[in-house]
Amino acid sequence: MWPRARRRCVLVGGRGSASAAAAPIPSNLASHSLSSCLSLFRPTFQRVYEGTFLGRPAIFKQRFPKRYRHPALNARLTSARVKAEARALARARRLGVPAPALLFVDVRSSTLYLEKVGSGLTLKDVLRAADPPAPPARVDALMEGVGRAVAALHDGGMVHGDLTTSNLLIREGPAGGSPPSASSPASEEEVVVIDFGLATNTVAPEDRAVDLFVLERALTAAHSTAAGGGSGQGGGGSSPPPPKHGPAAHCPDALFASVLASYRRHCAGWRPTLSKFAEVRLRGRKRSMVG
Ligand SMILES: Nc1ncnc2c1ncn2[C@@H]1O[C@H](COP(=O)(O)OP(=O)(O)O)[C@@H](O)[C@H]1O
Ligand SMILES: [Mg+2]
Repeated sequence: MWPRARRRCVLVGGRGSASAAAAPIPSNLASHSLSSCLSLFRPTFQRVYEGTFLGRPAIFKQRFPKRYRHPALNARLTSARVKAEARALARARRLGVPAPALLFVDVRSSTLYLEKVGSGLTLKDVLRAADPPAPPARVDALMEGVGRAVAALHDGGMVHGDLTTSNLLIREGPAGGSPPSASSPASEEEVVVIDFGLATNTVAPEDRAVDLFVLERALTAAHSTAAGGGSGQGGGGSSPPPPKHGPAAHCPDALFASVLASYRRHCAGWRPTLSKFAEVRLRGRKRSMVG
């Protein structure tokens, strides 16, 4: 029933790539479509593999049961989480949010089969590129794309729940050309949102504001390693100046300001969200000052 996937081993960049190592493909996955590949990421409760599915480059995201739980409860919770992530991803796509196509859901092996986006380049990779740093025009265009994608999600009644720079991928646009890298953009790029495991359906300004706050923290963190600086909290008045050789848009405050400007332009319900955001940010700062 399942066309066999081509045998291949590929390792792509990303959060866990440094520690990625060949891992035996789980037998339940192998029986479907994969015969051999590398485990790319190794969080404790799930793995992300790369391969092909029906001839298309694909990503396989498999969730594992937590060992300490009762097996029956485990099976129920794991399959509920996989289905919830699949539903959220499908809904986001219906809302027009750029997100990978959902190719297949295998509830039995708790695996999502996803379209592989571009070459797997993340926004974090681009922001951390130092030699040379990404040009300001490219960074601006990406921040605009982030604001637009989050606005579409929020206006559609969803929040992502984990808006980090590793969950925002870069896809080369329809114009094609060579795939983008951290230092050289494709001719046209699109920001694609992934990882809907924590997404929820809500229109509460508080939830939307927390989504934005998580993103602000992530942008600050992604930048601070590259430039050796960053305010640590984003948006503060004590941020160091942008690096001499780097674009002004790389200043963490400027990065997030571009996202917010785009969000305001594209989100119908921006007003209550942004006033809540000021509160959430204040709470977050107080907490990090207290420790
Ligand atoms: N559809 C995809 N296309 C390309 N790379 C992907 C895709 N989905 C995930 N990845 C890569 O795998 C990493 C982890 O996937 P993610 O869905 O974010 O899982 P996790 O819940 O472990 O963070 C991402 O940061 C990205 O580098
Ligand atoms: Mg993720």
